Parts: sequence; C-alpha cells; structure tokens
Amino acid sequence: MARISRQQLIAFEELDTAADLTPAEQATWQAARDATATAYAPYSGFQVGAALLLADGTIFRGTNQENAAYPSGLCAERTALFGLAASQPEHAAIVGMAIAARPTAGDFGPALPCGACRQVMLEYETRQGQAIPLLLPSRAGTILRFPSLAALIPFNFSADDLPAS
Ligand code: THU
Repeated sequence: MARISRQQLIAFEELDTAADLTPAEQATWQAARDATATAYAPYSGFQVGAALLLADGTIFRGTNQENAAYPSGLCAERTALFGLAASQPEHAAIVGMAIAARPTAGDFGPALPCGACRQVMLEYETRQGQAIPLLLPSRAGTILRFPSLAALIPFNFSADDLPAS
C-alpha cells in the first residue's frame, strides 16, 4: 500500500505592534484588552477577553467566567460567541475577532484559544458563511493575524461528519 507524505500549511501574518493594525482592528484589539478587566477568574487568576467586531461597527465582548466547580466555568471566546448569538440573534455579520489575556496582577501576554473554543469558533464562522479574521497576541509578543477562524483548527469535526438526518 502506498504511503503518501503530506503537509498542510497555515497562512497568517505577524505584526510587530498594534500600530500596524487597521483602525477597526485596533478598536477590536483594544476592546479585547479592556474586556479582561471584567473577567471573573478568582480561581486561575488568568483574565481573558474576547472581542467580536460586527459589520455595523459595534463590538461585542466576552470574558472568562469561572466557577467553584471548575469545569462549569467557560472561556472568554465562548462567552463572546454564545452571548452574541443568544442576545442578538439578528446580529450583523462578525467581521473580526481579537483575544487578550493577562494575569490578574500582571501584564498582557499570549492568548491562544483552547481546542474547545477553536471548535466553537469554527461553528460560528461556518454558520454565518463568511470568514472571520482573527488577531492573537503571540508568545513572542507580536500580533498574529489569521484570515479565518477555521485556520486554527485543521482536520476538524463539523456538521459534514454527522450522518444526514
Ligand atoms: N481561558 C479562556 O478564557 N480562553 C482560552 O482560550 C484559554 C483559557 C480561561 C479559562 C480559565 O478561566 C482560565 O483561562 C485558565 O484556564
């Protein structure tokens, strides 16, 4: 049996500072950072903010919400997406997303979404049928710009994998 080696590339851009972003991106980036102040993270001490830029120019925010029963808490990315869908079912298209994270008593650092959030991010992008560019603070202190949320979760599970009902 033939064995074929394959590679899959992920295209993204790396920017030095927020000054290199467009004005709309800067607003989304700053909103994610500002949102960290309203995180509820008494157990981890790790405050995460997520911002969703909508086509009408508004920005919807989410933050991580923890719980004494640890697994009952939820990440910022999912509170943002679930909160938007639940509170504004007719919302304008999501045209950008940014994430920020900082320790409760510390400076901003990297914010790379967990696997469960990537799965949810994929669903909402697929659902609206329009790619959502994403800005992430990297471990190196730069800004990573991905053209779509799907870029973060190759070989994903999706509705296509469910049997037709
Ligand atoms: N967290 C997020 O909000 N987003 C992520 O992508 C990773 C982790 C939160 C969950 C928990 O409240 C804290 O960060 C530590 O894991």
